[in-house]
Parts: sequence; C-alpha cells; structure tokens
Amino acid sequence: MTLVNDPDSKAREEIVRRDLGNVLHPIVPHKQLERRQLVAVAAENSTIVDADGAEYLDAMAGLWCVNIGYGRAELAAVAAEQMQALAYYPHTAMNVPAASLAEKINSLLGGDNHVYFVNSGSEANEAGFKIARQYMKQEHPGEFRYKTIGRYWAYHGTTLGTLAAGGMGERKSKFQPLGGNDFVHTARLTAIAARSASVTRPAGWPVRRIWRRRSSAKAPRRSPRSSSNRS
Ligand SMILES: Cc1ncc(COP(=O)(O)O)c(C=O)c1O
Repeated sequence: MTLVNDPDSKAREEIVRRDLGNVLHPIVPHKQLERRQLVAVAAENSTIVDADGAEYLDAMAGLWCVNIGYGRAELAAVAAEQMQALAYYPHTAMNVPAASLAEKINSLLGGDNHVYFVNSGSEANEAGFKIARQYMKQEHPGEFRYKTIGRYWAYHGTTLGTLAAGGMGERKSKFQPLGGNDFVHTARLTAIAARSASVTRPAGWPVRRIWRRRSSAKAPRRSPRSSSNRS
C-alpha cells in the first residue's frame, strides 16, 4: 500500500462541518475544535496524513493502541474473514477466535493466566478494580478491602470508576460525585406495569411471579390487587 496524500480544501471544509454539527468529542473543548482542527484522512505504518496534506510521525501510535502500525492489509483481511464467519456473540458463551487468542496471549505471559477481553483501556482498568475487589471478598470473607491507590495527575480513563481512580482534578471535577451513593433505583418496568391500571401489560410478562417474590421480601408492600388508588 502506498500512502495517498491528496489534499482537498473543499472536502476538508465538508468534514469539519459534518463533525461540528454531529460529533461529541471526548476531553477536548468544542470551542477549541471550532477554532482549529486536525483532520486525519489516511495513514500507513507510523505516518499520518491530514486533510491539508501535512504528514506526521505518529510516535504515540494513536492513543498507544496502533502499536503494529497503520495500513496492515493482512489484519484487515483476517478481520473481514472473521466478520463474515461470526461477527459477534456474547462472551457468556465460547467462540473460536477468543479461545485461540486467549491461549496465545496466555502462553506469552507464561501460561498461568486467564484473559478477560474488553474494548478499551478504561474498561481494562474497571475490570482490574473489580477483579481485585472480588478476589479480596473471596479470599478475606467478612473483611472490607476495596480501596485502590492512585497518583495525583495520573490518567486512568474516562468512565466514572477510572475518573475516580485518576488524579486529574480538572477532568474529573465536572462529573463528581463519582460512584458511591449517587445512583438511585426505582422499581423495574414489569413491576410498575403490574401496579398501574393504566398500563397495559404485554402478554407473557411475568407479573405474577414478580409479585409473589416481592411479597416474601422484608419491606411491607401493598398488594397490586387490593390497591384502590392506582394511577
Ligand atoms: C494510562 C492510561 N490508562 C487508561 C487509558 C484509557 O484508555 P481508553 O481511552 O482506551 O479508554 C489511557 C488512554 O490514553 C491511558 O493512557
């Protein structure tokens, strides 16, 4: 593959218009993007081309996630082949490529591990926090070991848990409080449907089962049948 570098100012303007009108970018302030944009259009190996025709050495490899370089035709080919054979199946079941890749990664790590697949660095860190907590619960029942230590200025990702673990005040302050008691819960929809005379329950909804289970719960609850003030 030869890197194409064919700047087109009209095409650039069009991309910027479509982006600013439709895309929500992470971390970077949109006011800044309205003033100045880098519009990446092509890449090969470690070189990026932007819509103005400038070429850059991508020493960071994207966000450290294109470590084998851009334009790897052999990877595009195997990805296309796999997507035609089985593009996705939930990982509560097994599949061929996941088992094979996990075996390969595990063998590179010495063979005494298991591989947990995620889609991003943030999810990897979330998984790490959860695995550590679960391990502590199982190995130290009755104790409450859950704390994670992070460094000031450290960056660990964009999810609530990784923002909490990170030490970049400006990035996390807009989203605080992070975790803890800031999520509240209400009844699930099937239970709401059972309570409300104005909601038509779709055939097959397990309302009876829900109410039977709830009636054995500790908190006293009004029976949906005896309720006179349904809305
Ligand atoms: C050290 C570190 N942790 C976590 C992340 C988050 O990864 P992602 O953007 O894939 O969620 C990054 C991303 O730059 C990172 O550099």
